[in-house]
Amino acid sequence: MGLFGKRDDMIVHGTEPYNAEPPRCGLLNARTENASFYSRNHGSVPHVDPAAWRLTVDGLVERELVLSLRDLREQFPQRTLVATLQCAGNRRSGLLAVRDIPGEDPWDAGATSTAEWTGVALADVLETAGIQTSATDVAFEAPDLAPLAQPPQPYGSSIDVAKATRREVLLAWAMNGEPLAPIHGAPVRVVVPGYIGARSVKWIDRITAQAEPSDNYFQAVAYRLPAAAAHPDGAGVALTSVALTSAILAPASHSTVPAGLSTITGYALAGDGHSVARVEVSQDGGHTWGQADLDPQASPWSWQHWRTTVELPPGPVTVTARAWDSTGATQPESARQIWNPKGYANNSWDRIELTVVP
Ligand code: MTE
Repeated sequence: MGLFGKRDDMIVHGTEPYNAEPPRCGLLNARTENASFYSRNHGSVPHVDPAAWRLTVDGLVERELVLSLRDLREQFPQRTLVATLQCAGNRRSGLLAVRDIPGEDPWDAGATSTAEWTGVALADVLETAGIQTSATDVAFEAPDLAPLAQPPQPYGSSIDVAKATRREVLLAWAMNGEPLAPIHGAPVRVVVPGYIGARSVKWIDRITAQAEPSDNYFQAVAYRLPAAAAHPDGAGVALTSVALTSAILAPASHSTVPAGLSTITGYALAGDGHSVARVEVSQDGGHTWGQADLDPQASPWSWQHWRTTVELPPGPVTVTARAWDSTGATQPESARQIWNPKGYANNSWDRIELTVVP
C-alpha cells in the first residue's frame, strides 16, 4: 500500500504536500475506491482531534452556531449522495504540451474521482443559523497552512449563496461508507458537486455568510482563469462550475492491442446543473465520429462512464473522444485553444495512441 493508504501505483506529483492521482485504469468503476481517489493538497495534513473539533457558523446570520461532530449528526437530517470531485488542474498535462506552465504539476486525467458522501446538507445548517438576505457568498476556512500561497495562509474558499443553499452541497464525514480519512478532510469536509474541487474545503472549521467572495488566496488569486497573456497571478475569472470534459480510460495510451474488435471506455462529466447527453469517438482525428453507449448515471452529480466497441486496423491508431452536454455544448478540439498561464480547465478532446498488431 502506498502513502496515505493509497494504491501502490498512484502517480505521485509530490509527497509534502501530498498530490497524487490514480492511473487511468483506477477510474473504471462508477465509484472510485478510497484507495484510488485522487488527492490534492496545498499544505500538510492538519492534525484535527474529532472530539475537540468545532464548526463555527458566523457572519451574516441571525444566530452564530458552534457545532461539534455529534451536534451535526444529531441536529440535522443525514444525507447521502454520489458526487464527482474534479480538480481545475485535471488534464493540465495537455496544456503543458502546448506551452510550459512553471510551478504547476502535470496532472493527467486522474485528478477526478467519484464517491458516495454522507453528512448533512449545508443548506440545513445555514437555515438553522438564519442566513440573512444580505449574504451573497458563503466562505469556508480550514486550518491547513499553504506555504506557497502569497502570503502563506490557511486554505479557504467560498461559493455563492445560491449554490450554498442547494441540497446537494454537503458537510460530509463519510466517504464510500467509511469515516472520512485525514487526507480527505476528516473529521468534516465540504462537498460542492458541480463546482471545481477547490471549493470542496477539507478540515472545515468555519463557515461565514458574507456580502463578498472570500479574500483567501485560493479564491481571490488562485483558481481563477487568467487571460492567456496575463501573469499567472493576474486578475482572472473565478472558476466555479467544472468544464464539460471526457477522457479515455482504457485501453491505456501507448499500449499495443490486437487488431479487430476492441472496447474503448472512459468517463464524461458535465458542468454544474448539466448532464452528459452524448459521447463520441473518432478514429480519424475528428473527421467522422461514432457514438458511445452511456452507462447509467449514479446520481445527477456523478460522472458517467461510456463504452463503445470499434474495429481497429493494424498499424498506429489515434482514438479521440469528446462529450456533448444537455445544452448542446461540446468540448474544444485542441488544448491550444484554451491554454492559460495556470493550466486550468483543460477540457479539449482526449486522444490515445495505440499500436495495433495483426
Ligand atoms: N481543502 C483544504 N483545506 N486544503 C486544500 O489544499 N484542496 C482543494 C480541495 N479542498 C484543499 C482543500 C482542491 S484544489 C481539491 S481539487 C480538492 O480539495 C481535492 O480533494 P481530495 O484531496 O479529497 O481529492
